[in-house]
Amino acid sequence: MDKITLGPMPYMSVMPTLLVGANVKGKPNYMTAAWATVACMVPPMVCVAINKARYTAKGIEENKTFSLNVPSANHVVETDHCGLVSGAQVDKSGVFRSFYGRLNTAPLAEECPVNIECRLFTSVDCGSHLLYVGEVVEIHADRACVTDGKLDIAKISPIVYAQSAYFGVGEHVGKAFSAGTKYRKK
Ligand SMILES: Cc1cc2nc3c(=O)[nH]c(=O)nc-3n(C[C@H](O)[C@H](O)[C@H](O)COP(=O)(O)O)c2cc1C
Repeated sequence: MDKITLGPMPYMSVMPTLLVGANVKGKPNYMTAAWATVACMVPPMVCVAINKARYTAKGIEENKTFSLNVPSANHVVETDHCGLVSGAQVDKSGVFRSFYGRLNTAPLAEECPVNIECRLFTSVDCGSHLLYVGEVVEIHADRACVTDGKLDIAKISPIVYAQSAYFGVGEHVGKAFSAGTKYRKK
């Protein structure tokens, strides 16, 4: 073994690149977010860590709703733009076309192949960031990105975030809940 210590930091090997949608003062705003994941299976929940200073946080607090939108690799420029500028200074409502689903106040980005519509379940004050946990009320998906009723990662072409860079999805290296059956004790 040859390990070194790097000190405590909020590290994850890879993260998704998402756009958090929230209405602020009645207008859609989209913020790039990578600190997000699934939080619960039943009921279905997702979560995202948002710095208290973000304009987006105001909208989530205001409406108790938000969306997580999954951009495709062909929208890297628009996606990064939403992470470079704040809705407090720049109107980002036109970066994506917005539509609404079951909730009236969670804007969904039409150009993103998957939209996760959420009602705020709870938020956890972790310090600089609030962890917003949202109950998923609906998933909207481009028909072209669904194969046999399931979301198809190859068609969605999501953006992976790691090391301050954007990546496409890498090669398939094994089948989950299956590859492990080949394990033999050494
Ligand atoms: C790739 C990337 C990932 C980001 N992830 C997060 C995140 O998970 N949480 C967060 O609070 N800010 C994150 N940011 C920063 C915000 O997107 C950025 O501050 C944005 O301007 C906030 O927009 P708003 O003020 O309109 O909400 C990220 C930025 C980039 C470029």
